[in-house]
Amino acid sequence: MDARMDRRRFMRVGAASAAGVVALGGSLHGAAASGADTLAMLGGTPVRTEPFSQVWPIFDETEEQALLGALRSRDWCCLRGHEVYDYQTAFAQAMGAGQCVLSNGGTTALSACLHVLGVGPGDEVITTPRTFIATINVITNAHALPVFVDIDPETGSLDADLIEAAITEHTKVILPVHLAGYPVDIEKIMAIGKKHGIPVVEDACQSVFAEVNGKKVGTFGTGGCISFQEWKSLVCGEGGAILGDDPEFMRRCAAFVNNGRDPAGTLGGYPFPGSNHRMTEFQAAVLGQQFKRFITQDRTRQANGRYLEQRLTKIPGLSPRKRYTPNTRITYVEFDLDYDPEHFEGVPASLFARALRAEGISFVSGGPRRWGRGCHREGMLEEHLKSEAFRRSYSPARLEAYRRSLENLPVMDGRIPSTIERLSFDGKIPFLGPRREMDQIFDAIAKVARNCGTLARMQDKGT
Ligand SMILES: Cc1ncc(COP(=O)(O)O)c(C=O)c1O
Repeated sequence: MDARMDRRRFMRVGAASAAGVVALGGSLHGAAASGADTLAMLGGTPVRTEPFSQVWPIFDETEEQALLGALRSRDWCCLRGHEVYDYQTAFAQAMGAGQCVLSNGGTTALSACLHVLGVGPGDEVITTPRTFIATINVITNAHALPVFVDIDPETGSLDADLIEAAITEHTKVILPVHLAGYPVDIEKIMAIGKKHGIPVVEDACQSVFAEVNGKKVGTFGTGGCISFQEWKSLVCGEGGAILGDDPEFMRRCAAFVNNGRDPAGTLGGYPFPGSNHRMTEFQAAVLGQQFKRFITQDRTRQANGRYLEQRLTKIPGLSPRKRYTPNTRITYVEFDLDYDPEHFEGVPASLFARALRAEGISFVSGGPRRWGRGCHREGMLEEHLKSEAFRRSYSPARLEAYRRSLENLPVMDGRIPSTIERLSFDGKIPFLGPRREMDQIFDAIAKVARNCGTLARMQDKGT
């Protein structure tokens, strides 16, 4: 047995159990001892045997009618229809943004922002390795270098304290990502951008309606992008939005997604660079209805998420993931709990999560680094670096220095062990369910917690 485990066991007996028994309804030892709640992974009855009641995406005849309305209007393209333009106005208002421009995806929304800010060959964009690859694709497709700043070992978000050291004369944009409904330290990042005169573009694709100090993420930067792709929390299949306050920036973004047309119509012809990244009227018609639904869904998620968080964090060893300011609104599309094994007989989060999955509650572990190995390890990067376009734009020495910089992400690469173990749950759909389902999530966690002694013994035997 490993010595650390011995110490953990010892600490557990003294520190965790008394409070734990109370938090778990006083049944910590009784139920386990009676064998009434054998873990499902050991042959017991799972807490849940059915899928959660909600099925994604959620729609009814209102979306069907909206879609039919767009079809029958014969205005299928926004150049003739009104759905896209109506939604732009409504969404800007709901987000507290000066303007909104819709596009056919979050990726093209990000591309528009980078293009309008002049990102191109020779430039650097500061960003995070822990994101969906689309964030990085838009940088490399502009033949600029994504400069990866390491992640905060406590949250997994880009570490704002490391940004200034990454700024060079080539830095054109700072591109932070609010991942999974959890805002980054955006106020600090905005202050850094302002100090150095570098615009910030927020990738808020996964975090619609998350807030910091009463302001929605996506509305802090010069541009902020949202995705409406089907797996997000506000959806129309594929779609994206750019948010911003600067009229000239937004004018050019609108032009970029519409083949360079001046959205105001003041300038004729095709006065600006652009391409066709327009959203169709079908997508916007569905989105309009989904948005009404989303307002209610968001409220339900908040109520369920907070309810569960309050119940669970009474269990010693579970605490809410750190927020950068107390007044932060997460969206509960992902539900993260910091997990301290000392309170669970040294059982690692990975084993605890496995036991929960057997109970029918699909928690995963992996801590702040979870989400794959990081975009800096993806093959696409080297493909770009060795392409003719990159070799024409950067000296061999600069490309070599860049390659070396990819080795300088010790937290993301796991060379600095994470201080935090974490349990994560995809709450987007389950958190729309009835309270009973929230209670089942709690019950499953409480059950595994009560049985952590058994798990610890299993682990020692290597089973
Ligand atoms: C963090 C992040 N950025 C950008 C995107 C791109 O959005 P879209 O799929 O709408 O192009 C996504 C989509 O998954 C994302 O998760």
